[in-house]
Amino acid sequence: MAESMMGLKRTHRCAELSEANIGEKVTIMGWVQKNRNKGGLVFVDVRDRSGLVQVVFEEESTDKEMLEKAAKLRSEFVVAVVGTVTARSGAVNENLATGAIEIIPEQLRILSESETPPFPIEENTKTKEELRLKYRFLDLRRPDIQRNLMMRSKVATLTRQFLAEEGFLEIETPFLIKSTPEGARDYLVPSRVHPGNFYALPQSPQIFKQLLMCSGYDRYFQIVKCFRDEDLRADRQPEFTQIDMELSFVDVDDVIDVNERLLAKLFKEVLDIDVQLPIQRMTWQEAMDRYGSDKPDIRFGMELTNVTETVKDCDFVVFKNAIENGGTVRGINAKGQGSMPRKKIDKLVDFAKDYGAKGLAYIAIQEDGSVKSSFAKFMTEEGMKALIEAMGGENGDLLLFAADKNQVVWAVLGALRLELARQMEILDKNEYKFLWVTEFPLLEWNEEQNRYTAMHHPFTMPMEEDLPYIDTDPGRVRAKAYDIVLNGNEIGGGSVRIFNQEIQSKMFEVLGFTPEAAQEQFGFLLNAFKYGVPPHAGLAYGLDRLVMLMAKEDSIRDVIAFPKVKDASDLMTEAPAQVDAAQLEELGLELAKMEEK
Ligand code: AMO
Ligand code: AMP
Repeated sequence: MAESMMGLKRTHRCAELSEANIGEKVTIMGWVQKNRNKGGLVFVDVRDRSGLVQVVFEEESTDKEMLEKAAKLRSEFVVAVVGTVTARSGAVNENLATGAIEIIPEQLRILSESETPPFPIEENTKTKEELRLKYRFLDLRRPDIQRNLMMRSKVATLTRQFLAEEGFLEIETPFLIKSTPEGARDYLVPSRVHPGNFYALPQSPQIFKQLLMCSGYDRYFQIVKCFRDEDLRADRQPEFTQIDMELSFVDVDDVIDVNERLLAKLFKEVLDIDVQLPIQRMTWQEAMDRYGSDKPDIRFGMELTNVTETVKDCDFVVFKNAIENGGTVRGINAKGQGSMPRKKIDKLVDFAKDYGAKGLAYIAIQEDGSVKSSFAKFMTEEGMKALIEAMGGENGDLLLFAADKNQVVWAVLGALRLELARQMEILDKNEYKFLWVTEFPLLEWNEEQNRYTAMHHPFTMPMEEDLPYIDTDPGRVRAKAYDIVLNGNEIGGGSVRIFNQEIQSKMFEVLGFTPEAAQEQFGFLLNAFKYGVPPHAGLAYGLDRLVMLMAKEDSIRDVIAFPKVKDASDLMTEAPAQVDAAQLEELGLELAKMEEK
């Protein structure tokens, strides 16, 4: 039977106790982690978010009733213990913060009992994620995830502190809004008062923060939920959190400066890591050419080499055709992987095909200098030699080549480079390599829609020197946009905004908006631009991604209290769910007939 807390007040969290408290009478409250009953001697580990402490019930010093009660304790019972801290009578447990002490109890109360949990509450669990997410309230008791969420809270607190000191105001923006242009699908909310009309949930506060700049708030920030209906991955959730900011009267360097100092503070105070400032910068073009990615992991080399010139006259049709069709041939050198078995190389070829490659040509240089290759027979001896030399190939190296349009070659080799690094186990989660990627293309050609779309969003400022090309050659216009990349993850992105009506109209025109359509969708912003706009710029971090990397996790689900799974459902609440016919009727909605699943 559960007892009350009445008359008891917790004095310490479990793991706050140490040898410094020896002799003190304390009251702790928490969950039973483990109960070892040795007959006449009962060891109980009590856990709270700080950690564990051991309570020892002994026959000699404990009354019979309490000893019996202690023996009945099971995992996840909630207890209160009043007792005296003593030095451990048994061996000191070096693995435990409180390993040198124990509590000799004088009072035990069972505040709440527990059924046997569906899985043990323990660190580094082997329990399947599906089961854990169904019982997320139990999963959240595990020390590793508790540490992650405590770290997340610390990151948010430090961010608020820092930005407030830098003159940023925390201002909330609405969730029930009109569609925003971040390029993903919107989540829609039907309006009851306006049947047939819908709010969109914000994909970001982008337009509102720009309006706040127009309104003179100068520096804004918000730690804010954003909603995007897109395909989920380990680093993508349908609702996620941004550290969002916007600044007036600034240019690229100002935004970068304040954010470098923010990142340095976070890494120093949370992980005691010194981030070397300034953070390295690289243009988008250089990132693509060297790493095949706009978010390169620069913890390791294995850079791409463009060998188009070297092979342009060879007889290998794969290379020849690609070059004739305006593409390139590029390769990477997987150092020391020359003896990779054929089967494993074939797997790499399949991997490359997943990224759009038609194939993957290779040269495996054996330790004795002999060569195994999928295309040597199409090459002259000098041709092979020149190619190996261009790749810096040495005995024992594996050279991999993709020939195609640039976009495909980059995607394939960029992904392959990461895959090889994983296989070679050269990635160290304790190493943090930041990189600013700058000068992104302003526009992206969309094959399906046969038009340009904004690479970032339609409010991003073109680079001044590229403005002349906006009509004649829009594809070559670079943007004043920047991403902050950490270990191959895009943790944030932003841009300088257009604050000039003419350029904004031009931008909409290039994107294929009629003036009417632009007015219809973003009229309020365009109107605001008529009344005095400060030059402004901003950036938003994916807080989940940032904390995931700081916590050395592989998925943002591990740093979100109640995440969703791949199909965007919540396994615990079972959202999304059907609603009452009455609710639908009130909203003026009728469901289209759907095929039975
Ligand atoms: P962007 O779309 O690049 O920029 O988003 C900013 C950052 O948010 C994170 N992010 C996500 N994290 C988890 N799940 C998702 N589905 C997801 N989508 C994005 C990424 C990304 O870098 N308004 C602009 C910012 C600006 O221009 O100021 C914006 O939203 O880490
Ligand atoms: P094939 O003559 O088609 O057997 O191709 C010879 C080699 O070239 C094989 O190793 C293929 O995987 C590879 N290959 C085919 N297409 C490409 C491509 N677009 N880029 C690089 N290698 C390719």
